[in-house]
Amino acid sequence: MPTLGVNIDHVATVRQARRTIEPDPVTAAAAAENAGADQITVHLREDRRHIQDEDVFRLRESLRVRMNLECACVDEMLRIAIAINPDQVCLVPEKREEVTTEGGLDVRGKHVERAVKVLQENGIMVSLFIDPDEESISLSKSLAVEAVELHTGAYAGAHDPAEHEKQLAVLSNASQLVRELGMHLHAGHGLNYENVVPVAKIDGMEELNIGHSIVSRSIFVGMEDAVREMKRLVSSQ
Ligand code: PXP
Repeated sequence: MPTLGVNIDHVATVRQARRTIEPDPVTAAAAAENAGADQITVHLREDRRHIQDEDVFRLRESLRVRMNLECACVDEMLRIAIAINPDQVCLVPEKREEVTTEGGLDVRGKHVERAVKVLQENGIMVSLFIDPDEESISLSKSLAVEAVELHTGAYAGAHDPAEHEKQLAVLSNASQLVRELGMHLHAGHGLNYENVVPVAKIDGMEELNIGHSIVSRSIFVGMEDAVREMKRLVSSQ
């Protein structure tokens, strides 16, 4: 049964709408922990549109569960990641104009290889956020990363039943290859209360990172209930 990483970026999105001090993502993380989150995930973007540097340092101090830091393969972020020393860094592609992380990392880039090396030399476990295709998975293996996080955006966006099944099969096949190659298997992006169960049931799925749908539900039911409900779905084998 996979663990649940709760991404709290959008708590900070609401705070940054007014550039004030509430709602505090660190308080949201504590509530998520209370409700059974196994990990807290944050994406420190280069444009600082939601999570701020101070948030990541405060989280590192206060978290009892694992901390997963998502960041781009750029020197500034690598320096911050090393200073924070999270339990895991997930390297993601980043474009300033995008609304969210739109596609997987282009693993062929030399900057990715360098980032993996720098982080691993500093004792940090590395995951790569990649599209669920054979080339990206094999290239990730060649970079000796410990884990890959499969981008579930195409699956989450497939509303037609036939396309939904097709995208689920793509994820299952990709997952099998990840396991055969001996890497840890993670997934995320666009997962919600309606579509998460089939992904949680993929053989060998170890970790799901979910943000937008949990933070959205928390507006109506509170963070603890929103996390509890997602945890129940993720654990329903
Ligand atoms: N995993 C990665 C690597 C991401 O970049 C994101 C979005 O920041 C997520 C998971 C969570 O996606 P969502 O907010 O759609 O649940």
